[in-house]
Amino acid sequence: MIPSSLPLRADLRGEEPYGAPQLDVPVCLNVNENPYAPSPEVIDAIVQHVHDISGTLNRYPDREHIELRKALSRYLAQESHVDLPAECLWAANGSNEIMLQLFQAFGGPGTTALGFAPTYSMYPEYARDTFTGWQTVERNDDFTLNRERAVKAIEDIGPSIVLATSPNNPTGTPLSMEDTLELLAACERTQVAGAASGVHPILVVDEAYIEFRSADVPSATTLIAEHPHLAVSRTMSKAFAYAGARLGYLAASQGIIDAVRIVRMPYHLSAVTQAVALAALEHADEQLAQVAHLRQTREETKQWLESLQVHGNPIRVADSQSNFLFFGTFPDREFVFNELLKRGVLIRDVGPTGWLRVCMGTDEEMERFRDAFREVLALL
Ligand SMILES: Cc1ncc(COP(=O)(O)O)c(C=O)c1O
Repeated sequence: MIPSSLPLRADLRGEEPYGAPQLDVPVCLNVNENPYAPSPEVIDAIVQHVHDISGTLNRYPDREHIELRKALSRYLAQESHVDLPAECLWAANGSNEIMLQLFQAFGGPGTTALGFAPTYSMYPEYARDTFTGWQTVERNDDFTLNRERAVKAIEDIGPSIVLATSPNNPTGTPLSMEDTLELLAACERTQVAGAASGVHPILVVDEAYIEFRSADVPSATTLIAEHPHLAVSRTMSKAFAYAGARLGYLAASQGIIDAVRIVRMPYHLSAVTQAVALAALEHADEQLAQVAHLRQTREETKQWLESLQVHGNPIRVADSQSNFLFFGTFPDREFVFNELLKRGVLIRDVGPTGWLRVCMGTDEEMERFRDAFREVLALL
């Protein structure tokens, strides 16, 4: 409860803090985490790295986190076959903070950010918090990008930030390379509304879930060398199984990184966070060991859901390149959500009316989800 006597910003009055419910239930499939915990070897490495820096905690950490940026550069070379120097990388406390820094640097009063709905529900909050306008263009019925509408909106609005998500949350839909190149071309020929001549939008591709893609889907990071207005946001929270460590990172031209460096808080990334991230990056293969299995779980769960019906209609499941599935439609999705919760399974009621999102868990968790969901379907 915020007393009305507090001088809260007028546009924040009546707002609620953002966040999915954190409930103590046996099966949590609601925030798209990797369900597999770090291995004992990774835990040992974390302890060692934190031990090594503990004696320096009286000092501020490396503001530029150079070692970490070099390690992220090595990781991208291995994971996406892209060669980016440390100057083209930047890290922060989760990709949430990366995105907020991008909005702080490139948004602001009088500017607009453009996204493609339905999409991640935090984007309007970054916009609100930085006094940036937020507009969306609807995706196609299958949740792929509607290229014509997207390009037209860029040309009509002249946003300073175009925000595309690949794979998209909550739908799981990837952005094709052709779509990315079309968006980039539109940004490169469009003038930002109200800005000086020759100022063009940046395209931010949010690749929070990119490691879950199939081998033939390229990452937008491969386009950075050719496109100085492209910024790719990534995170260790999802496939990398490190949500608790809070480490997000940005790959972009040096110009974009230098702009973000202006708005970051001094020493925003603690020495402990840097050490913990370095430890896990040294064990990247182990941290990612379950990704292939989770991909397979996604495909099997998709087929299983598609074999079911609601009131005689087959359940629709959006094509996903992520670790979650978006499925529906249910005349009363709250009922399905609550009945699953009563059975100890927490999923997410998010996105367009009638749809639900479930994240891939361990084999045991998925079995509990299937058992609970069968029981709930019988009630409909
Ligand atoms: C599309 C997308 N981007 C960014 C994030 C934020 O991730 P983090 O701040 O943990 O890196 C999420 C989290 O769910 C997400 O779904």
